Amino acid sequence: MSETMQQTAEPVLEIRNLSIDYPISIGTVGAVEKVSFDLYKGEALGLVGESGCGKSTLGLSILKLVRPPGKITGGQILYKGRDIVSMRDRQILKLRGQNIAMAFQNPLTSLNPLFRIDRQFLETIHQHEPGINKSEALKLAEAILEELGIEPSRLYEYPHQLSGGMRQRIMLGLGLIMNPDIIVADEPTTSLDVIVEAGFIDLLNRLRGRYNLSILLITHNLGLVAEIADRVAVMYAGKIVEIGGADKIFHDPLHPYTYGLINCVPNIRLDQEELVTMPGNPPDLVNPPAGCRFSPRCPKVMDICRVQEPELKAPAAVQGTGQLSDQTSGAGSDTARRVTACWLYQVKGAE
Ligand SMILES: Nc1ncnc2c1ncn2[C@@H]1O[C@H](COP(=O)(O)OP(=O)(O)OP(=O)(O)O)[C@@H](O)[C@H]1O
Ligand code: SF4
Ligand SMILES: [Mg+2]
Repeated sequence: MSETMQQTAEPVLEIRNLSIDYPISIGTVGAVEKVSFDLYKGEALGLVGESGCGKSTLGLSILKLVRPPGKITGGQILYKGRDIVSMRDRQILKLRGQNIAMAFQNPLTSLNPLFRIDRQFLETIHQHEPGINKSEALKLAEAILEELGIEPSRLYEYPHQLSGGMRQRIMLGLGLIMNPDIIVADEPTTSLDVIVEAGFIDLLNRLRGRYNLSILLITHNLGLVAEIADRVAVMYAGKIVEIGGADKIFHDPLHPYTYGLINCVPNIRLDQEELVTMPGNPPDLVNPPAGCRFSPRCPKVMDICRVQEPELKAPAAVQGTGQLSDQTSGAGSDTARRVTACWLYQVKGAE
């Protein structure tokens, strides 16, 4: 975690007991189930987990963009203390772009191929600041393009005239033009080659430093998380199973799922020699297993795991060793506090 973050550790976003369902013909997909975490000012939080565990649904919900039949069925999303879940559409539209930006790999927010880039910037700016005149707005757009390492003259081109990397940066620019506090980026580098991706990572890190942006980075790409994130939240089958400082998550994971996930990735940084695969598949979210949802795949499963769900909390002791685990790494900072939902670190009935 960066020093800046420790000095200004106040949450800009507090997710509390958030649940999101998709009703389908054979039942209800519990895509997000009682999820809670905070995003702090100036931090980058990586949200990782296997495909279908609910990452995008969670990301979309932050601006109430979950598409029907998806529905937020419980909990709160507090932006600077105000609950987004209970906001009206008008208030949400104001937040979108101005306070919270989204960088998604989906058609909802992608560039319109029919319009030049300048028009797309002008529309975004006028939506939030109707009073601003055209030449001022274009100056703002040219400045952000320059910041993103793109010739300002490219503003007057159509999306198809630009490379994939440029389009990606322009999408980021459209998100950043109104100086938001938070950017939610869902797989922002999927379509980029390795070199462009490295540039994008540098860019995101620079912008974060300059504007004290908070980033929620949703991705399968653990290498990307290692490059950007201060903390990591690990999601499995609709639930958060571990949150902690990025270094701790990568080098000393607590939850067996986190361990499996990290070990599946051939990663030079982690000195891994063999590619390991995690056996089994994530559960059906219409009928998830009782107790710990990871129990059917967990190499350390115990009887209690199959009947009772562990809470997400600071680990008390490592079962079988009696030793206190290293849960307070980050020395007294709440933002670095580690939590995990696993019976290996909890004593039944103990508080
Ligand atoms: N429109 C929908 N209707 C029904 N179920 C849906 C819908 N969208 C998502 N789901 C289900 O919700 C669960 C979570 O999906 P989500 O897309 O949030 O996962 P994800 O972690 O982002 O996956 P990926 O890594 O593949 O992007 C999955 O089981 C998915 O099948
Ligand atoms: S609670 Fe039990 S099954 Fe779940 S991860 Fe921990 S040890 Fe494995
Ligand atoms: Mg997704």
